[in-house]
Amino acid sequence: MTIKKPSSATIQQAASILATGGVVAFPTETVYGLGANAKNDASVVKIFETKTRPQTNPLIIHVADLSLAKQFAKFPTSAAALAQHFWPGPLTLVLERVENSGLSEKIYAGNTTVAIRIPAHPLALSLLQNFSGPVAAPSANRSGHVSPTTADHVANDLGDQVDMILDGGPTTKGIESTIVQVFDDHVELLRPGSITSAEIATALDKEGVLIDVRTNNKTTSRPNAPGQLESHYAPRATVRLNADAVAPGEALLAFGSIPKAHTAAAAHIINLSPTGNIEEAASLLFAALRELDAKGTPNIAVMPIPKSGVGLAINDRLARAAVPR
Ligand code: TXA
Ligand code: MG
Repeated sequence: MTIKKPSSATIQQAASILATGGVVAFPTETVYGLGANAKNDASVVKIFETKTRPQTNPLIIHVADLSLAKQFAKFPTSAAALAQHFWPGPLTLVLERVENSGLSEKIYAGNTTVAIRIPAHPLALSLLQNFSGPVAAPSANRSGHVSPTTADHVANDLGDQVDMILDGGPTTKGIESTIVQVFDDHVELLRPGSITSAEIATALDKEGVLIDVRTNNKTTSRPNAPGQLESHYAPRATVRLNADAVAPGEALLAFGSIPKAHTAAAAHIINLSPTGNIEEAASLLFAALRELDAKGTPNIAVMPIPKSGVGLAINDRLARAAVPR
């Protein structure tokens, strides 16, 4: 079995798999990543092949510390302030790349920018420190499927195609990192996550950086994160959002207290948070979608989930899951 419990021996083994060109799935605080040596073309190609990911979709690189990050990306004052404030943590910065930094060209997929983060998970950090180089890691799911938040999710999607899966238990945040691109005069949110644009604005303000925070929606001329295709995060079932009633036989993805009529009609119910805790809901969302799919549910009704805090990211992922295919 490729799933390994973490220990100093298995972490070292994982680092040497990376060093010899293999792929390792590892937990971060957001979701599990599928990691490979970001300087090695052949290893990076393995990531794309394992996930069946189009090579036009660039990869995030993960590093253990800021000094290593600076070898690969340029940090204007605003980016340095965000790194200072949020790293290690669930924030990915899209920055102008440093030329001839040694990263595989495949990482960029033709962009002049590079996406980079320092994850906050102790296992991820320990792996990055042991390997001591940049690790390219997209979410460790089959392309187009929901991101994995447990080692079993990774095994179900990618199985024996990965050389090792480090099992750190369920991830705490449960939703992929917030992605922001830093421009000269403003910061642009490309993907909502557990760090909100309001928190980013507050942090910049605290660090004395006067710069706008904007949200990229597809009506602007700038490209969104290429991987944010609408049909991502797709379970097999059809997903119906903001349901105020449940049709007989529908599965119910609930939030907060469940009306009696819903309970009577639903074929299955998973409550993301009976107490209405939005962080708890985020941490359980992807596992719930996978579980309902595993039951063979054809239709999922989703109760309204508040669009505040990480609720924005939950609604973003659910809207993508609900796009007709
Ligand atoms: O939480 C996370 O970010 C996880 C963990 C493993 O770190 N990783 C993750 O990677 O979600 P991935 O590849 O599944 O999503 C990264 C997104 C993709 O939509 C990709 O297109 C975008 O980031 N991206 C990567 N490089 C970019 C760049 N230079 N400019 C704009 N978007 C970029
Ligand atoms: Mg992904």
